[in-house]
Amino acid sequence: MIRLADRGKLFGVGIGPGDTELLTIKAVNVLKSVDIIFSPRSAPKRESIARKIVEPVLNGKAEFKELVFPMTKDKAELEKHWSEAADEVAKALGEGKSGAFITLGDPFFYSTYIYLYRKLKEEHPEIEIVTLPGVSSPFAAAAAAGIPIAVGDEKVAIVPLPEVIGEIWHYLETFDTVIILKVGERLRALVKVLSGFGLADNAVLVQKASHEADEKVVMGLSKLDDEALDNAGYLSTVIVKRDVEFA
Ligand SMILES: C[S@@+](CC[C@H](N)C(=O)[O-])C[C@H]1O[C@@H](n2cnc3c(N)ncnc32)[C@H](O)[C@@H]1O
Repeated sequence: MIRLADRGKLFGVGIGPGDTELLTIKAVNVLKSVDIIFSPRSAPKRESIARKIVEPVLNGKAEFKELVFPMTKDKAELEKHWSEAADEVAKALGEGKSGAFITLGDPFFYSTYIYLYRKLKEEHPEIEIVTLPGVSSPFAAAAAAGIPIAVGDEKVAIVPLPEVIGEIWHYLETFDTVIILKVGERLRALVKVLSGFGLADNAVLVQKASHEADEKVVMGLSKLDDEALDNAGYLSTVIVKRDVEFA
């Protein structure tokens, strides 16, 4: 629970992969008691997935403030948005409020929270930050697919899909399980590369893991049709096990 001592603090809260019931008890307690919940958004008009996950536990009481983190690779543009977001957070906390920044999955794992965290440390070092871990997407994807990630001395790599997709071979030959994030629009190209290695059916696609009716699991990727190959969506993860055929 938030105490008086928590005024002026920022909690970075991992809210899990999608299912509200995968929030931790600590996350729920913090979110129910802070004054402001900062939520990330990639464009002003896009709905915030993170906000949808936490709203059911808040009974309409929370004050949300959306921070825009555009999906661009332009470094200057990104720096500007991270700085502005850090200033907004610092302003609210400087007024004596308590705040939480919500982030999908785990906050310290490929998350926009990390940029905000670094900016706050650099530009507003007086702010105390507490990070709360969350259930991360590779684990939610494995659970949805019913695939143990690793057992015994097996080795695992978790990687964002490389720019040059063929480089994925390095991981496939080195690790027993390779979990590939940020597949989205490049699913077709990834499946083509995996097929070239003879591994398309050693791969599983998990979309929207834990998002109730929207969750989708495809075991073996050679069966994917054009519709599926071209519309994977952002919340898509591929798990490849070199020594296991799924279809
Ligand atoms: C920027 S990373 C965010 C990772 C997040 N911090 C975590 O711990 O899961 C986004 C990628 O995570 C994966 N992802 C996130 N949520 C997912 C879900 N519910 N189902 C499948 N993949 C998911 C997708 O590969 C997506 O492109």
